[in-house]
Amino acid sequence: MDHIIPINARIFGLISEFKIDAKIAPVEPFGSGHINDTYRIINSDAKGVDYLLQRINHHVFNDVPALMQNLLNVTNHLKQKLSLVPGANTEKEVLTIVQTRQGLPYFKDKDGDYWRVFHFLKDTRSYDQVETEKQAFEGGKAFGRFQALLSDLDTSLVKDTIPDFHNIEFRLNKLRQAIDANVVGRLNKVLAEIEFIKLRAAKMSEILRLGRAGILPRRIVHNDTKFNNVLLDSEDKAQCVIDLDTVMPGYVAYDFGDSIRTIINTTAEDETALNQIGLNIPLFEAYTRGYFQQAIVFLTEAEIDSLLKGVLLLPYIQAVRFLTDYLEGDHYFKIHSRDHNLQRTRAQLVLVKKLEDNQEVLDHIIQKTWQH
Ligand SMILES: Nc1ncnc2c1ncn2[C@@H]1O[C@H](COP(=O)(O)OP(=O)(O)O)[C@@H](O)[C@H]1O
Ligand SMILES: [Mg+2]
Repeated sequence: MDHIIPINARIFGLISEFKIDAKIAPVEPFGSGHINDTYRIINSDAKGVDYLLQRINHHVFNDVPALMQNLLNVTNHLKQKLSLVPGANTEKEVLTIVQTRQGLPYFKDKDGDYWRVFHFLKDTRSYDQVETEKQAFEGGKAFGRFQALLSDLDTSLVKDTIPDFHNIEFRLNKLRQAIDANVVGRLNKVLAEIEFIKLRAAKMSEILRLGRAGILPRRIVHNDTKFNNVLLDSEDKAQCVIDLDTVMPGYVAYDFGDSIRTIINTTAEDETALNQIGLNIPLFEAYTRGYFQQAIVFLTEAEIDSLLKGVLLLPYIQAVRFLTDYLEGDHYFKIHSRDHNLQRTRAQLVLVKKLEDNQEVLDHIIQKTWQH
């Protein structure tokens, strides 16, 4: 956002493919996302709509047409549901996708890159890190409401664009393969971590088992519930959930667990001083309050009971993925030091242990909040 690049022919050409009639001012790279390249397109008419142009990372998402059809189905459903809520604003609270002049929700350029355009939501901001209880509460509200509005969307309308995304059995299989192959000879450095993971493997598959038994319903969930995927308004109130690329059928506990994974950790995801890792219980409580305020209208009792399982599962999955990458020679996650993935694994496993040790406290907060 700091450096405005001169509007270049490429971006200008791209914009002309979309149904945008406004006169366009300079273009600037925007935001702190790690997956897509994002540009803000400013309307010369200050009162007009600004746009957000994104190049979709088609290495991560290899079926862009299916992905964009998911986004259309999801945003249309959200808008339709919100239009029935008094006082709601469907333009500000849901992403609006701009179609191409051909009527498609994306444009494929001659280099094979895919582009899309949203309405830019003015006077909003996102934060990478939750710092206050108020923010945690707003984050919980945003994702709770998102799930609630989608709870009656036919799951067959949203395709599994990344199969097995949060499937722990799949992730543990990958780890097993990496252990057997031991391609970079790191196995003997991680025996304690493997033992810790193995001991918990059966318990961590519980959500999947309950799902297969029909006890937990598959719903449309967000799957990337980081706090910076919520836009807050000028008063720091949740306005719009963004980054809908991973919205897929799954279990509500995945979203809850992934939010809590970062919010509750008093340190960084890759903290090296393991004894510093602790739990921020007030932030957990605030998120849970915001979440229930919105989600209570559709959650089943089995789902409420699954939330704590999600809280334990998500850092565990993350540890399994870091460790797999470490054993495979660091192909997937960008590393900043030689043993970075091992460090990340250890930090996540310490977090799992802390969460286990505090299960009763966390469970009490969940029970108390939903009964309230
Ligand atoms: N419609 C929008 N209006 C305003 N800002 C947006 C909008 N969509 C995204 N952003 C900003 O751009 C950043 C990156 O967008 P996002 O869709 O989350 O991409 P990534 O997949 O790279 O995380 C967000 O964190 C947010 O700050
Ligand atoms: Mg994002």
